[in-house]
This record gives sequence, C-alpha cells and structure tokens, in this order.
Amino acid sequence: MEIVEHIEAIRTLRPRFERLGLVPTMGYLHEGHLSLIRRARADCGAVAVSIFVNPTQFAPHEDLARYPRDLDHDLRLLRQEQVDLVFVPHNSIIYPPDFCTYVHVEQLTTMLEGRARPGFFRGVATVVCKLFNIIQPTHAYFGQKDAQQCVVVQQMVKDLNLPIQIIIGPTVREPDGLAMSSRNAYLSPTERTAATTLYRALQSAKELYVAGERNAESLRQSIQRVLAAEPLAQPEYISAADPTTLDELETIDERGVLLSLAVRIGPARLIDNILLPNKP
Ligand code: PAF
Repeated sequence: MEIVEHIEAIRTLRPRFERLGLVPTMGYLHEGHLSLIRRARADCGAVAVSIFVNPTQFAPHEDLARYPRDLDHDLRLLRQEQVDLVFVPHNSIIYPPDFCTYVHVEQLTTMLEGRARPGFFRGVATVVCKLFNIIQPTHAYFGQKDAQQCVVVQQMVKDLNLPIQIIIGPTVREPDGLAMSSRNAYLSPTERTAATTLYRALQSAKELYVAGERNAESLRQSIQRVLAAEPLAQPEYISAADPTTLDELETIDERGVLLSLAVRIGPARLIDNILLPNKP
C-alpha cells in the first residue's frame, strides 16, 4: 500500500493502474467506507482512498477542529483491505496560500443540506473536483447516506464533462438501524440510543408509502411525529423530495421520493435518508 502526501508522487504512481476506483473520505473510517472500498476493488481491481478533512466544507461555527481523526487506525483498516494508494495531503497541498478557484453547483445546492449549511457544497464540489484531477480515477464511490452530496457530485461530473463513473453505495447501518457516520462518535450512550429515532422515523414513513400513501406531506408528518416522541431529538429539516431535482413534492409519482432529515442530538448533527421505492 502506497501512502502518499504529494501530488507529484500520485502522478508517478497513477500509470500503474488502468482502472482505478477512488473512495474520497475525511477519515475515521467505518464499515460504510469499507463497503465502498470493497465495491471499488470488485469493479476496478485497484483502489485509491483519500483521507482529508476538508476545511472549506465547514462553516466557522461547525466541527472542523473536533472532527474525529485517527490516521493510524484508518491506515490499519486500509492495509487489511489491501488498498493500493492512500492520498493523505496536508492542507497546504490542497489549498496553497494563493488558492482562489471554487466549484459552485447551482440550484441543487440551494435546499436541504445546502440551505442548512451555506457554503458546504461549494467546499465539497471543489475538493472532490480537485481529488478527481489529482488522482484521475476511472470510477469514484460515494455513500447514499449523503444523498444530496451524491446528486451534486453527479451533476458536477456531468456539467464539467469529467471522465469518471460515479457509483453510489447503499447506506450501511448499525444493527439497530443507525446509519454509520464518523460523527456518531460525538454521541453519549443516552444520545446514541436516542439517535435510532432517525431510522425509526424514516421507517414509519416507509410503512405508509408501502401501504399506498402518496401524499408527501403525510410522510413528512409521520417522520415528524416519531421525532417529536424523542426528547433529545431536535429536527432541522424533514423532506420528501424528488430524488433527481430535490424539489419538495406534494404527490409522489413513479419517480419515487427521497425522504431525508437532519436532526440534532446533543452535540451531533445527524442526517439520514431512504429512497422509495425499493432502494436501501
Ligand atoms: O463525504 C465525505 O466524507 C466528504 O464530503 C468528501 C466527499 C470526502 C469530501 O470532503
């Protein structure tokens, strides 16, 4: 496994691989990341993983400084997965002092996470575009857990004609349904128990949908009711949106629905979603 900090070293190593799958991460790896790595290995043979806590996707009041980090643990896991290339750049490699170019995906970034976290997707799109240009993968892997990020990255790749195939992996969950996330580390045991309310809320709406409900507001209300029963849960948004445009729906038709939510539980801001019909 090659561990690389500099762009020149990536340029030297890149010709070794014909197909290369990239899993971009901010580290503190969990089963969700590992499932993407395994998928990349199966598809491409060779896998690159980037570990970079990207400062431009954090607002000044957000958790950049305390974002969980454990590089030794991450590298151990990546060795076990026989990852070929690990890119661990310092901040100054990605953002040199004279850096002044950003990628802004319009429209799709104005709602949901984009509304709650202004500037977030500008940071994500910029760093993902840079990682694509630096590593030049043939394929790149993202988790459905960050549903809007998936939509935004796919749009960027299309709009900028980037020659990369984007693959979305299913959300990986704990046995009690909590979606795996590095930020789950912020939760105390009591908050960790309360956090299962996100999945239960989504499941309540799914049950209605499966029973034939197609009124989007009824699904939003069902989610709202389950969250209201958990005193530690402070919902930020609850959405039943078109999976492609992310516009809020009134009636759900054959295009299906992306049910998503952001909820504060203690010090953690958690997000989760399900796609209906028939997606994990
Ligand atoms: O999903 C993440 O971990 C990050 O947003 C990403 C894609 C690695 C960009 O920093």
